[in-house]
Amino acid sequence: MTAELSPIDQAKFVAARRSVDFVENGMKLGLGTGSTAAWMVRCLAERVRAEGLQVTCVATSSRTIELGTSLGLEIVPMDEVKWLDLTIDGADEFDANLNLIKGGGAALLQEKIVATASDRMIVIADAAKEVAQLGAFPLPVEVVPFGWRTTKALIEETLYSLDVMNREVSLRMGGTEPLKTDEGHYILDLNLKHIGNPRQLALVLNQIPGVVENGLFIDICDVVVIGHGDGRVTVRDINSGRVENGSVDITESRNIFADLD
Ligand code: A5P
Repeated sequence: MTAELSPIDQAKFVAARRSVDFVENGMKLGLGTGSTAAWMVRCLAERVRAEGLQVTCVATSSRTIELGTSLGLEIVPMDEVKWLDLTIDGADEFDANLNLIKGGGAALLQEKIVATASDRMIVIADAAKEVAQLGAFPLPVEVVPFGWRTTKALIEETLYSLDVMNREVSLRMGGTEPLKTDEGHYILDLNLKHIGNPRQLALVLNQIPGVVENGLFIDICDVVVIGHGDGRVTVRDINSGRVENGSVDITESRNIFADLD
């Protein structure tokens, strides 16, 4: 199975595998959503199985609840724990300050609530997600369905006063219908190409009636674990400034891949 992984999946896997080393017995954990986070959930479940690690988890989407539960993890509602020790999640883009674009998987609202409620957030990503300036990835904005066309027009108007390069806003579809998030909201994708001031954009978007939350994560992420297709992993801690380079031996993860066969 490992030999079948594409370089990008190997990169996601090694970042995920390294990130679960940060998990300690007794922790309350936030589990992210997406393909990289799914590897992390598998790696965490393997540690729980192999080491008898006790952790309580909150998931950031119905998909992650399903995966985590199927692997035997204890998943509880957010309100049962309120605050968390650590959240590990993927990202669509990250910059040198560890500001992020998230929401490519439409789970940004729960992801932001969970990450913000955590003492520490670790992002796991393949190296291609690192950018000098956020914005090449369309910024997801979660909106209520009622009056969404008005909300879209207000967003478009607001973008004219902001430092962005492009101003295309589109409703995300799930087949022939608008895609609905776990909360029953819609997603507008803002194709901006370049976001000059992510902090300002994040604040301004959330002032618009109908906007529930946006996918800019500013000052939330503490650590990024960057995976490479050859097994190398870089851990960067924004608070301490520490950078650690290492590697993950994929062959030692046979159990995780065996589960997938
Ligand atoms: C889910 O809504 C997103 O925030 C994901 O964490 C993000 O899109 C990264 O996904 P991948 O790990 O699948 O690239």
